[in-house]
Amino acid sequence: MDTQTLITKFTELYQPTSEIRTFFAPGRINLIGEHTDYNGGYVFPASISFGTYAIAAKRKDRTIRFYSLNFEEKGMMTTSLDDLAYRKEDNWTNYPKGMIDFFIKEGFNIDHGFDVLYYGNIPNGAGLSSSASIELVTGVLLESLYQLNIDRIKMVKLGQQVENQYIGVNSGIMDQFAIGMGKKNHAILLDCNTLDYQYAPVDLGKYIIMIMNTNKRRELADSKYNERRSECEHALKDLQSELHINSLGELSVEMFEEHKHLIHNEVERKRAKHAVYENQRTKEALNKLQVNDLTGFGKLLNESHLSLQHDYEVTGIELDTLAQAAWDQDGVLGARMTGAGFGGCAIALVDKNKVDQVQKKIDEIYTNKIGYSPTFYQATIGDGAKELKL
Ligand code: GLA
Repeated sequence: MDTQTLITKFTELYQPTSEIRTFFAPGRINLIGEHTDYNGGYVFPASISFGTYAIAAKRKDRTIRFYSLNFEEKGMMTTSLDDLAYRKEDNWTNYPKGMIDFFIKEGFNIDHGFDVLYYGNIPNGAGLSSSASIELVTGVLLESLYQLNIDRIKMVKLGQQVENQYIGVNSGIMDQFAIGMGKKNHAILLDCNTLDYQYAPVDLGKYIIMIMNTNKRRELADSKYNERRSECEHALKDLQSELHINSLGELSVEMFEEHKHLIHNEVERKRAKHAVYENQRTKEALNKLQVNDLTGFGKLLNESHLSLQHDYEVTGIELDTLAQAAWDQDGVLGARMTGAGFGGCAIALVDKNKVDQVQKKIDEIYTNKIGYSPTFYQATIGDGAKELKL
């Protein structure tokens, strides 16, 4: 749906009397560095051209009216600036409500309501961060409508706080950072310990990044996610009996090998191993991209998947089938799951000229084994959250 159609719908819905503004926040893929963010390690995500649009206009009173073209059955949902508490039945509007609430608690002056229409084209439940996208599109909307002077990293952190404290999902900073700080044709190497970051041009020559959606519903993903976090915390505690470290991200592979016996529980040792080795791979991945060694980059993607499959155990048969099917195709340099896992999407580095045949083969293999087909998208890396000046 183009922005003009969205504006027409907005006008029909709300008959606004003040200026109509348009905002966009992308979704994200993570090239490599999975389950490292909350372990104080590196991640290497990029914002993609799929995302969430928000059309909005200010109101004179303290009412806020929400409507989403993705949840039309919910109809128009109304709240007020004086009633921003989390409520389960408020469904998807809890994301924007949480952002408004946390902005106000942070001291930003939001003294009038607004009307807003959302539309997202991020595939549903695909693990491409549609929730962080709604948070950040709301962030830039508030910034512009109320002329707030807010630092972008501050906005990113507020987004994460909403996710952790308001929604109740204990996620790291990667998604909000990638979406808030994204840059066209660049990935972001982010040190989640310090929030130091650098942009790396993603120039893949004759290769493209193909996104493959398992189309599996991500059940139990949140509880498993929290379980992994606490397993890593236990492992860290054990290591701290001899090492002066604050996070697994501070460990080199060598240090880990020398001290891994300190971790009592075998499962927790595997989880920590993934976090440490994945961190190392992520730093190497930047070097490979910088010297244009795409074969080497692809190998790191494969190693990452295997580690997530065997040591971190967050893949599952659907993601493993997709990755394996991709690895077996001529013209594929590497493939791995992306995001939290337990379903969702994988990415593959594929020769432009072979995309059709590669997709056909993977589709066949996956459908035979799993019983339904995957979906494919081509990822282009776009800018982070912003107002669209039409
Ligand atoms: C989810 C979380 C992120 C990150 C990834 C795994 O996307 O929101 O913070 O932990 O999983 O790398």
